[in-house]
Amino acid sequence: MGNVIKKIGVMTSGGDSPGMNAAIRAVVRTAKYHGMEVFGIHRGYQGMIEGEISEMEAKDVANIIQRGGTILKTARSKAFMTPEGMAKAYDQLQKHGIEGLVLIGGDGTFRGATAFFKQYTIPAVGLPGTIDKDLAGTDFTIGFDTAVNTAVEAIDKIRDTAEAHDRLFIVEVMGRDAGYIALHSGIACGAEDILIPETATNIEDVLERIDNDERRKKTVHIIVVAEGDEFGGAKELHAAVIQRFPQLDVRSAVLGHIQRGGSPSCADRILASRLGHAAVLALRAGQTQVMAGIINGKIVFTPFENAVKVNSCMSIDMLDMIRVLAV
Ligand code: F6P
Repeated sequence: MGNVIKKIGVMTSGGDSPGMNAAIRAVVRTAKYHGMEVFGIHRGYQGMIEGEISEMEAKDVANIIQRGGTILKTARSKAFMTPEGMAKAYDQLQKHGIEGLVLIGGDGTFRGATAFFKQYTIPAVGLPGTIDKDLAGTDFTIGFDTAVNTAVEAIDKIRDTAEAHDRLFIVEVMGRDAGYIALHSGIACGAEDILIPETATNIEDVLERIDNDERRKKTVHIIVVAEGDEFGGAKELHAAVIQRFPQLDVRSAVLGHIQRGGSPSCADRILASRLGHAAVLALRAGQTQVMAGIINGKIVFTPFENAVKVNSCMSIDMLDMIRVLAV
């Protein structure tokens, strides 16, 4: 065990997600348990470049497992994607004697890591931290479950008021280019329609379904649309609906960043804890440039370049199901 890593850095990068703190806690506590030194890198790759690096002890991560956001802060760094930025970042890691990294973030984080590690060899293990669930190599990403639950709570409330007024509501949820939040929250809320980027949106079909509901005197119609849907978001859909059905009382809501905040769900805390623990053990075992994930309950490691490939495991057949269930 002569050359087992003794000093590691941990950082969060890209959009924050609920459960990142639970992941940081697991990384720090696992490392300390194994007698390692841990350095927190603040504000992601940007902080790495600027040397915002400080040592962390087990007590520094007390009382954070239940908190949203990230105590290490996060950023999206353009400078890191330049050769100069990467060189500065590497110098800072050398200066602090950091021998391995745990990177908590989404696809931007792992794309950055892939470019960096082509030039500089430092072992790194990633954790999937994003509400979007747009990574391969894991069934769930840290923060997704909480974000979906936040969206569900909001849409349930919207349904109350929609029903009181007999209104048609369009709710736009986050997800960047992915439709997982829309699909899962839409199913859980009994949405009448769900529009996601993974399937072609035919606006005529959407309008026809509204028309059918009208004929059947269905008084409430909720459409959940992913922000990345190719037809557009709530604004575009709203315009198309009122143009065709000027008699309908239509409202729309963009849920926005409330989906990123809040106390992580139990599922996210457990996922973050298991993956944070596994990442440190993986670094100690000599793994590098892989993302830790959980598939069918088992920890698996996927090379960064494969993790960022579009996840093909979305069950599009669930969309057919909602058409049946929303009758
Ligand atoms: O990747 C997470 C995410 O919340 C996406 O769902 C969304 O498109 C994006 O980040 C928003 O980014 P920002 O917080 O920079 O506006």
